[in-house]
Amino acid sequence: MNKERLIFAPTTKQYTRASLTRASLSPDPLLQFHKWYSEAVAFPEPIPESCTFATAQLPSGRVSARVVLFKELDSRGFIVYSNWATSKKNRDVRSNPHAAMTFFWKGLERQVRVEGRTEFITHEESLTYFRTRPRESRIGAWASPQSQAVGDGSREALLALVSEQTAKFDGVEDIPLPEGWGGLRIVPDEIEFWQGGEFRIHDRFSYTRENEGAQWEIRRLAP
Ligand SMILES: Cc1cc2nc3c(=O)[nH]c(=O)nc-3n(C[C@H](O)[C@H](O)[C@H](O)COP(=O)(O)O)c2cc1C
Repeated sequence: MNKERLIFAPTTKQYTRASLTRASLSPDPLLQFHKWYSEAVAFPEPIPESCTFATAQLPSGRVSARVVLFKELDSRGFIVYSNWATSKKNRDVRSNPHAAMTFFWKGLERQVRVEGRTEFITHEESLTYFRTRPRESRIGAWASPQSQAVGDGSREALLALVSEQTAKFDGVEDIPLPEGWGGLRIVPDEIEFWQGGEFRIHDRFSYTRENEGAQWEIRRLAP
């Protein structure tokens, strides 16, 4: 393939839905997130909990990102669930306990960016969530060494892993948590709320704090 341009997306979309003002913001960005998230659910955005979750490996500094589902917000931060044994994001956070999450709520013309330190939630907390998953998904978590190559590459090989685990847990009601599977909390030190504006004059407000106990400071950022 030569260097000819294959896709060119000229600007067409104007963001006219709403504006965001300093006066309307909650002093606590977790409460502000709660408000926007509730509005995204009510809108309804198709998968309001989906977000891009970015991590970076050290010492290479190599960055990777993927979509995950944000599952819980508590007074400390944002929790996502995944495989913390074999995935690429696992490799990254073990070497560098920092991550970023980006939510895009298309219909509302909003973006939220969260950055912070990562920490694993407790086994008990992960188990509580794991038990809410359908049985097949709990078995699926056992069957999938996430992001590792599958045997001969066929779907049959993948389904064989599932069958193996299904047989193993036959008659077992309370399937245990697989080793390394569970929740990761991002304890934020920066959260930005973006509301699209006409002619790209967007409203952006960023909350930052020095550490978990410190006061949040709010600044308007240039678009
Ligand atoms: C809508 C959507 C939701 C997803 N939710 C999750 C999730 O909650 N947890 C997860 O581990 N992977 C989820 N995935 C799969 C990830 O994007 C990714 O394929 C997987 O986590 C392996 O990534 P990694 O090897 O880079 O860590 C989701 C993908 C999509 C498209």
